[in-house]
Amino acid sequence: MITRKKTDNTNVETKLHLRRHFLRTYHAEGGTVLDACQGEGKLWGQLRQEFPALRYTGADMKPRAVGVMVDSRRLLAMRDWPWDIIDVDTYREPWGHWQNLCETVSRPVTVFLTIGLVRMAGGVVSNCCKRAAGLPDETPGCLAASVVDLIFNQLLWYPVRLGWQIENVLEATPRQRARYIGLRLVPSRPAPGQKAPAKARKPRPAPVPATSPTRKTP
Ligand SMILES: C[S@@+](CC[C@H](N)C(=O)[O-])C[C@H]1O[C@@H](n2cnc3c(N)ncnc32)[C@H](O)[C@@H]1O
Repeated sequence: MITRKKTDNTNVETKLHLRRHFLRTYHAEGGTVLDACQGEGKLWGQLRQEFPALRYTGADMKPRAVGVMVDSRRLLAMRDWPWDIIDVDTYREPWGHWQNLCETVSRPVTVFLTIGLVRMAGGVVSNCCKRAAGLPDETPGCLAASVVDLIFNQLLWYPVRLGWQIENVLEATPRQRARYIGLRLVPSRPAPGQKAPAKARKPRPAPVPATSPTRKTP
């Protein structure tokens, strides 16, 4: 665990590279973007110039020059959200966004996750992560942090339990302070003679899979 000051924009080129790859692969014709952690808007300011067909919504919980001032986890808790691309470039952990998104998703979607490895004041870990790790909500963050790092794959593969498939997943070269993941989430194909999987329903338990998932190679 690393304890240091947070900054809005580190490794911009690495993040852009990952995003460009998915945008070229899946969204060359356009698409709708939710920039769920807009901050200064540096990443999508650049990407919108390169991919002008994209329709963009920015959100941030801080009162900056943002499109929507909101805790964007709430946007992803709503049913029938309209985005094809969701970017969760937060300082800390994206798992609250990810859990909501997985439980409400109803269309193929490209997702970017920044998983911060910098822990403020020794460790702030969401209750969502503590529950996924089987820890009580009262567990101090500094104790929960190292456990949560160990269940990374279980958190990432949560949608598979809900009838979705991670069609493509790529990780940019991990950095000391963060991991950068891009992935494509699509409904699992029904087996011949079977119905398509039902949409996920809320409320759901914390994202702990019944068995350890196997990591796919992109
Ligand atoms: C690393 S900065 C984002 C930088 C941004 N992607 C850019 O290109 O400039 C992280 C931002 O996420 C915002 N944030 C963190 N959690 C959030 C949440 N739950 N809802 C909305 N914004 C959030 C913070 O306020 C901060 O502005």
